[in-house]
Amino acid sequence: MSLLDISNYSKYISEETMMGPSCIRILEELLNKCPLRFNSDDLVLDLGCGKGLTSLVIAKETGAKVYANDLWISSEENKERFIKWGVDKQVIPICEDANNFHFERKQFKALFSVDSYHYFAGTKGFFEKKIMPFIKDGGVAFIGVPGIKDQFEGHAKELLFGWLGEDYYMFKSPKLWKELIGVSDSIELVNIWEMGCFDKAWSEWLAVDNKFANCDKKYFDTVIRPYTCFVGIEVKLR
Ligand SMILES: C[S@@+](CC[C@H](N)C(=O)[O-])C[C@H]1O[C@@H](n2cnc3c(N)ncnc32)[C@H](O)[C@@H]1O
Repeated sequence: MSLLDISNYSKYISEETMMGPSCIRILEELLNKCPLRFNSDDLVLDLGCGKGLTSLVIAKETGAKVYANDLWISSEENKERFIKWGVDKQVIPICEDANNFHFERKQFKALFSVDSYHYFAGTKGFFEKKIMPFIKDGGVAFIGVPGIKDQFEGHAKELLFGWLGEDYYMFKSPKLWKELIGVSDSIELVNIWEMGCFDKAWSEWLAVDNKFANCDKKYFDTVIRPYTCFVGIEVKLR
């Protein structure tokens, strides 16, 4: 199966649709780890999809119907974008808090979550209680989050507070994410790694000229590059 060619999506990637380090670079690494192909009535959840860039790519690359869920971006706003992109039949916007989903049980063949899971899921048992019930038996979850490198775990406050303020606690190491996902009779495999897409994802975001990217630029060489990473998480259910 062919690997994701990011150049197919350049026209959708813009200052308007980016909300941080390139979500498409992070998704590229997740998708290339295990290319997936589904039927058009199979459902995939894109959790914390922001402005829907990843939902578009997941739909095009896997062929599935995608539920594009986000909390801060309204369904109306994302719906308009999906119509403009010509994918509104295949990508369905949903605005719900991941702490309290109302999906049917065992509904999704796969879940993707890029640069959002760390906001709400950094506690032990969250995956098993709040996410796993909605994934079909044999399904998979692919998650990419910013984190702190393993050697600095336990030092997020002193190292990251200047950049992130009170949000520093969301940055957890690959080792800690492994503990937080935990073990369960329903989980066949948990694979956690420091992602290789770090430089590309950051350089594409730092090329953007807005107040968030400009703030990140000030901390990139002294804080972001030395201490942080992206954590890739793959969970396969039995
Ligand atoms: C930094 S943005 C990233 C958005 C997108 N994934 C991207 O990379 O462009 C983080 C996203 O997490 C979503 N989020 C935060 N808390 C959430 C929650 N409790 N439930 C669902 N989504 C949440 C926000 O709505 C926001 O769009």
